[in-house]
Parts: sequence; C-alpha cells; structure tokens
Amino acid sequence: MALLEVRNVRAGYGSGPDILTDISIDVEEGRSYCIIGPNGAGKSTLLKTIAGLLSPRDGDIVFDGQSIAGRRPDQVLAAGVCFVPQDRTIFPEMTVRENLVMGGFLLRDKKLVEQRVDELMDRFPRLAERSSQLAQTMSGGEQQMLVMARALMIRPRLMLIDEPSLGLAPQITSQIFGIIRSLTSEMGITVLLIEQNVKKGLEVADWAFVLDLGTCRFEGPADEIVDDPRIRDLYLGQLADAAKDTEETK
Ligand SMILES: Nc1ncnc2c1ncn2[C@@H]1O[C@H](COP(=O)(O)OP(=O)(O)OP(=O)(O)O)[C@@H](O)[C@H]1O
Ligand SMILES: [Mg+2]
Repeated sequence: MALLEVRNVRAGYGSGPDILTDISIDVEEGRSYCIIGPNGAGKSTLLKTIAGLLSPRDGDIVFDGQSIAGRRPDQVLAAGVCFVPQDRTIFPEMTVRENLVMGGFLLRDKKLVEQRVDELMDRFPRLAERSSQLAQTMSGGEQQMLVMARALMIRPRLMLIDEPSLGLAPQITSQIFGIIRSLTSEMGITVLLIEQNVKKGLEVADWAFVLDLGTCRFEGPADEIVDDPRIRDLYLGQLADAAKDTEETK
C-alpha cells in the first residue's frame, strides 16, 4: 500500500475554476519524488491540497490508509504530513532556536521539544552557530534550512517541499539539496518536492511526476524522465533554461 494516494482529485480556489482537473499519484514510503511541469500547471496547488489548505472538490487523498481529504492543515500535520511552502515563512522577530521550538507546538512534552531542538542543532551546525540570532537576519539559504529543520521537529513521515531553491545562489542550492537527500537517506522521510530547476530536482529524486493543466501527464524514474522525449517536447524551454543554469554554475 502506498503511503500517500491522491485519487482523481479535482480542486480550485474559492468559486474559481478547477485548477487540478483530475489528478492521481501514488507515493511509496521512504522514497523521494519530484513534481515538475510548466508554470501554472498546478504543482503548488497539489501540495496545498494535500496539506489541507484547499479541500478537494472531488476525489480522495489517502495517507497511511486514512482519508485526509478535507481535513484542516493542523490535522494533516498531526497525521505526519508537513508542508514547507515556497515563501519560507519564519517567525522573523524570534531567534533561530525559538523558531525551532515553535515547530514543536504539537508536542505537549517540553523536554521532548528541547531534546529535538538540540538534535536538530547537531544536524544543522549552521543553525547552531546562529541559534540566538533573529531569524529575519538570516540569509535566504539559512532561512530555507530553518524552515526545513522546523518541519523536522514533529518527525513527519512525509515532507511536501515547494521550490526550496527559489532565489538561492547555486552553492547554497547544492547544500539545500544535500539536506533534502539526507531527509530520505538518513531519516527515512518520504519527500515530495517541487523544483523549478528540473535537472537538479530530478537528480535528488527517485521518481518524477510531470504535471500539466492540473493533471499528471506522465511519470517515471527520475533518471529516465530527464531524457524522455515527451519532456523535451513539452518542456523544452524550461529544460533549456535549466541546462543554462547548470552551465553557469560550472
Ligand atoms: N490563491 C489563489 N487564488 C486563485 N487562483 C490561484 C491561487 N493560487 C494559484 N492560483 C492559480 O492556479 C493555477 C495554478 O497555480 P499553481 O501555483 O498551482 O501553479 P504551479 O504549477 O505551482 O506554477 P509555478 O511553477 O509558477 O509555481 C494558476 O493559474 C494560478 O493563477
Ligand atoms: Mg508553484
């Protein structure tokens, strides 16, 4: 049984049109997945719908055998699904340590919260160095590290990560991708990632979903998808941009 099953989901905002028209994907535990597709394909909308920020108009979302469709974001989080949105929302006037503590708000046990903060400080030395610095004074890459570390406070089984490399310099992007790789390889967390830089995203993932017009057009092993002629045809512009970025970072 898949850890997450999205079944024929249709969703949109308010009384607006369907953005997700009919989407079905399966996510197996302990693997990493990348969602790619052109701008406006519905990638972020899919993650928001899984995270409970939008209710499906039709279809079902099953996590660990239970339907989570229509549940509130805090309930989805409590079930073990953590959403890291692309806007890197931190608590700007709190310190790095306080931000991590906030990530443990679902945990009643204060000692456990402190213990997890300490573990995360060990795992992320950069955050440890800056533990008493105000979060708003951190660089973009450090803030991305902080939001991912904060998400780890509840030990999620599934992490939904929307465009973690947005606006970051190539070297920092590599560090962030290193962390994302370690989520699965060292912590056993299942990852569903959206990445604009198609090449990088596919390097970090086992499997890729290709979205267009609110549906999953096709899917496959990440290392094969990258050479799939259908992608070349559909996303030529984006791949060319990604290739250019990669060239520039050499
Ligand atoms: N809050 C919102 N209210 C109304 N429409 C929205 C809202 N957010 C997104 N949309 C619309 O939903 C469609 C899909 O947007 P979405 O953000 O899911 O695409 P995306 O695949 O993540 O694109 P990008 O690569 O640009 O991030 C777009 O047409 C967008 O205008
Ligand atoms: Mg998006």
